[in-house]
Amino acid sequence: MTRRAVIQGVGSALPQRRVDNAELAVQVDTSDEWIVERTGIRTRYIAGEGETTATLAAEACRRALAEAGMEPGEIDLIVLATATPDQTFPSSATKVQAMLGIADCIAFDVHAVCTGFLYALSVADAMIRAGNASSALVIGAETFSRILDWEDRGTCVLFGDGAGAVVLKAEEGGTRGILATRLHADGRHGDMLYVDGGPSTTGTVGKLRMKGREVFRHAVVNLADVLNEVLEVAGLTSDQVDWVVPHQANARIIDATARKLGLSPERVVLTVDRHANTSAASVPLALDVAVKDGRIKQGDCVVLEAMGGGFTWGAAALRF
Ligand code: ACO
Repeated sequence: MTRRAVIQGVGSALPQRRVDNAELAVQVDTSDEWIVERTGIRTRYIAGEGETTATLAAEACRRALAEAGMEPGEIDLIVLATATPDQTFPSSATKVQAMLGIADCIAFDVHAVCTGFLYALSVADAMIRAGNASSALVIGAETFSRILDWEDRGTCVLFGDGAGAVVLKAEEGGTRGILATRLHADGRHGDMLYVDGGPSTTGTVGKLRMKGREVFRHAVVNLADVLNEVLEVAGLTSDQVDWVVPHQANARIIDATARKLGLSPERVVLTVDRHANTSAASVPLALDVAVKDGRIKQGDCVVLEAMGGGFTWGAAALRF
């Protein structure tokens, strides 16, 4: 019998403070019109005092567990994707574990920037299928506001903070669950999107730097390729896909990728307008929105995709 990892619950959490484009235009030389036209972003949430990657992640997990009807003690694996951990160590996954009051389970962070959730999902799926875990929390959580250069209008308008989580549970013999995942990385492009600091180099946290145009160009090509690839591995055609939940970096990247694959925009979940780019949190945040508003239903065929610094990129196909 095939053993698969099935999503039993989804949850998300956002900081309290919402910041619209007009508010940013007071700080840097930009405008609501420019940001909306180039990116589709209208608002983002920015973490305040006491709000961290781990606190947002823990709240997203509580909501996902409630939706799954499960207690924290039933979880035996936590994989948290982030590029903005609370501390260099311990991992944010172990902080979330402690916040949820889980005495003993496997817990670790993965780091693939905006593709982090796809990497985390793929690792958790493999561990569940191999029998190393039966239930998992897979989290994407970020506080990118803390690594932004708030004087660089080319980057500070693009990102926001937040967290999303899914509860995975092993099921034998059903039709639901993760059908296929595909991951990629090409470190030769590390200088196109990076942070100019780190524990082993500058001893500082650093700030995000990006060559936006080059990132855009690579994103459309890589995302279309990996979507085709994951559909082929899962034995699906694009017209069998009910919903695409893309990484929410830029509405133009999302539109261009959907067009390249011949996917109708009505089947693409778009939340970049309200959350901006929340890096590893963006896919589970968007998934949660579409599940809660009733668009994504049990049994639907859903495809997730993301691309980020590294470069890294990946996709997953699942029956929800
Ligand atoms: N407000 C007003 N003007 C701005 C702003 C701003 N916030 N930012 C840049 N500009 C100006 C530039 O200075 C430039 O002015 P100039 O022509 O006088 O030199 C002009 O706008 C055009 O700049 P470009 O960078 O060429 O603008 P572009 O059309 O490429 O849009 C953007 C920039 C939105 C960053 C785009 O390149 C993009 O979305 N790239 C993808 C980046 C991305 O999504 N990264 C996220 C991480 S990776 C990922 O998640 C996929």
